[in-house]
Amino acid sequence: MVNKYFVKSVAASLVLSFSASQAFADDVDFLHWWTSGGEAAAVGVLKDDLEGKGIGWKDMPIAGGGGDAAMTTLKARVTAGNAPTAVQMLGYAIQDWGDQGKLANLNDLAASEGWDAVVPSALQAFSKHNGDWVAAPVNVHSTNWVWISKSALDATGGNAPSTWEELVSVLDAMKANGITPLAHGGQAWQDATIFDGVALSLGNGFYKSALIDLNEDALGGPLMVEAFNRMATLRSYVDDNFSGRDWNLASAMVINGEAGMQMMGDWAKGEFLKAGQKPGSDFVCVRFPGTQGSVTFNSDQFAMFSGSGSSAAQEAMASSVMNPVFQSAFNVVKGSVPARTDVPDMMFDHCGKKGMADLAAANAAGSLFGSMAHGHTVRPAIQSAIVDVVSAHFNGEFSAEEAAEEMVAAVAAAR
Ligand code: BGC
Repeated sequence: MVNKYFVKSVAASLVLSFSASQAFADDVDFLHWWTSGGEAAAVGVLKDDLEGKGIGWKDMPIAGGGGDAAMTTLKARVTAGNAPTAVQMLGYAIQDWGDQGKLANLNDLAASEGWDAVVPSALQAFSKHNGDWVAAPVNVHSTNWVWISKSALDATGGNAPSTWEELVSVLDAMKANGITPLAHGGQAWQDATIFDGVALSLGNGFYKSALIDLNEDALGGPLMVEAFNRMATLRSYVDDNFSGRDWNLASAMVINGEAGMQMMGDWAKGEFLKAGQKPGSDFVCVRFPGTQGSVTFNSDQFAMFSGSGSSAAQEAMASSVMNPVFQSAFNVVKGSVPARTDVPDMMFDHCGKKGMADLAAANAAGSLFGSMAHGHTVRPAIQSAIVDVVSAHFNGEFSAEEAAEEMVAAVAAAR
């Protein structure tokens, strides 16, 4: 149902702007890893929104998809006693910083704005530390997506794959058509992002027991061996120059017709949109074949560091990102979906509407899981041990059987 208040607020927020020469009462020093074209466009929406509220912007972008480099910089800054005011943060990293007592308490703001009632509990589990709100969720991304070039798909007969076997036959057909079937960047976090979809395609039960519960039988068992076999199959469809390639350059290969598809979280959609492409006519979004009905999510949250910058500016920033009008405008550009359940889907394209519907359905069905690759299944130390094994296998260091054994050993050592 179209909400009239929402339409008016969208219109009002779009015309509200301050001149560049405006002096700001409070600045926000914001550390994040949103540096690709699509991400920068989304940051622009955030920046305009804050400036419209009189909060200045000190940008601290640290390039590197998935945020590993940003988290390294964050640790160095906190150690040097120079924590940023606000930080883009994922999942269990928030809990680690909460344990260290570094995060500001947002309980008063959350209570006055009623966050408890509108943020799904799966997200609150990360936004709250020991029951206190310490982060404001700006979105929900999910990783079990495939982004397919419409023309490359049409050249294979036009049917988007919905099972593993269909996926392999579409990849084969793309190869036969002379394009790189799978656009991929060989960086550990990107290998891990594909692994989210591959593991989930072997069943919700397997995903949960291996990557959330860290059950040794699942970590080292036959389904894990099969997951690594599937990873090796996918590896055979990647071009020779994949090592080190940034994820947005892999998206560009699909956008410009060099490659057939990319397996990536829905931030990839931001790149397609930024390039002027339209879902349905230029590209197709499908869930990783075999994972329909399930979602592996990650949520970008804004964590505020206590004692760093003014708490008024921190609260104003948190309040801004929690605003339903902002959550619509930002996520339409970013490729993600709102972190609030009360934001209508009317501004979103077909893939965004599907993302919102899939999230709600998976939540209701008990098939919504955190993304391992993006820090929502286990604490960072264990996650990074898992990612290392996935990446080493992808790069040919281990056979599938050896990788499953390494998985058990690496998790045990990191625990
Ligand atoms: C973040 C996204 C970001 C992506 C690529 C993910 O971890 O959640 O917001 O676009 O990394 O940098």
